Amino acid sequence: MAERILVGELSFRPFLTEEQLRQRVAEMGRELEGDYHGRNPYFLVMLKGAFIFAADLIRASRLTGEIGFVRVSSYLGLSSTRQLTTHLLPEAAEVRGRDVIIIEDIVDSGHTLHHFLPLVQALEPASLSIATLLFKPDAVEVPVQLDYVGFSIPPKFVIGYGLDYDGRGRQLRGIYQLEEEEPGG
Ligand code: IMP
Ligand code: MG
Repeated sequence: MAERILVGELSFRPFLTEEQLRQRVAEMGRELEGDYHGRNPYFLVMLKGAFIFAADLIRASRLTGEIGFVRVSSYLGLSSTRQLTTHLLPEAAEVRGRDVIIIEDIVDSGHTLHHFLPLVQALEPASLSIATLLFKPDAVEVPVQLDYVGFSIPPKFVIGYGLDYDGRGRQLRGIYQLEEEEPGG
């Protein structure tokens, strides 16, 4: 059993192993391959958190197609600020008329995608779908239509496989969950 790890002052316990991630991402890749067979989609990767998942998912899908990057943030430390800051916007000419697949690391409150989707829709893609590695159904505040979900997980903070805590932990091969103090313990 893998060890607990410390990031800053916080303790995290192993939650999803490298092997569990590999298997699920391979399944999601096969699903995309079936759905987009012969369609040459445009992958829109949400930086920074989705970069590792996207690299694995896109290669697992064996699909051809261009890859673009966007960066928006709504998060600070352990919770959502509900304010969206855009750092890098989609390339309008690359998105227009394409079958766009947004690749996200995690959907938590839903605010990020809720605010970001209209920006993409305004560029008139032929179709738009969302693939997220993680989804916290019990944390949703604004519902978002998710087409591909890797794992539905409890509303606890996680790091690893691209996800960070204040910039740290992205390179961990597995996913780790924040360890909360036991009540009365
Ligand atoms: P939302 O706007 O609340 O849905 O949050 C989405 C974004 O917040 C994700 O793309 C992540 O960047 C970040 N986020 C949400 N939950 C976590 C978590 O448990 N660990 C690390 N980042 C998270
Ligand atoms: Mg993100």
